[in-house]
Amino acid sequence: MKVTLKVYRFNPETDKEPHYDTFNVEAEPTDRVLDCLNKIRWQQDTTLSFRMSCAHGICGSDGLTINSQSALACQKLVKDYDYTKKILIEPLRYFDVVKDLIVDFKPFFERIKSINPQETQSIAKDNIEKERNQTIKERSQFDDALKCILCGCCYGACPVMIGEDREFIGPAAILREQRYLFDSRIADAQERMQIMQKPHGVWGCKSYYKCTVVCPKNIKVTEAILKTKKKITQEQTK
Ligand code: SF4
Ligand code: SF4
Ligand code: FES
Repeated sequence: MKVTLKVYRFNPETDKEPHYDTFNVEAEPTDRVLDCLNKIRWQQDTTLSFRMSCAHGICGSDGLTINSQSALACQKLVKDYDYTKKILIEPLRYFDVVKDLIVDFKPFFERIKSINPQETQSIAKDNIEKERNQTIKERSQFDDALKCILCGCCYGACPVMIGEDREFIGPAAILREQRYLFDSRIADAQERMQIMQKPHGVWGCKSYYKCTVVCPKNIKVTEAILKTKKKITQEQTK
């Protein structure tokens, strides 16, 4: 059968404005959206630019906006959408476009790095040569956060990031901080909580739950953010 994709195009070297191109590809309902994009690039337009690597939901490189919702192109099948109509393919929201569907991830990785204190070590110094055992229960406090593949889909979905506060640190960065704050081995929790409380930090989250809805790893992102807020509040009222 034929599937029609309406694809966002922008080449800053030649285009003044973005535009959309429409492509018809031969596809099965069980084909992935990524398969359709590859067919376009291999058979119709070699200039179409998008990122991909693993094609199996592991590397996090093919986050896109598909029919107005963030998703990994390799995880979504044609039959997940109404393929009797055009499927709209756009770059992830929030980020600046480098070319076509490729966005600039620098602001994302800057935020991920910004959650770490500059001067302190996460693991207590006197513990550095020892085994640092954890119980299953202790480890379970941050297991979910470890599933994050840094795909940025949550940034493209978060109403705070894309509308209310473009400086907001964002869901994936807070999720990563939750991973440290709930790790029984860390020694710099106070510094980490201070970082989270800076302007545009954890309190910027308005619990819209959009990050949780789109996360391709089914991480309970908003729940992790709420746990982080609760821990900070408990610390302040001690
Ligand atoms: S829960 Fe917070 S981080 Fe997630 S989408 Fe809503 S405002 Fe953004
Ligand atoms: S929290 Fe989920 S959506 Fe956000 S970067 Fe991690 S894997 Fe992607
Ligand atoms: S290509 Fe690696 S997650 Fe989709």
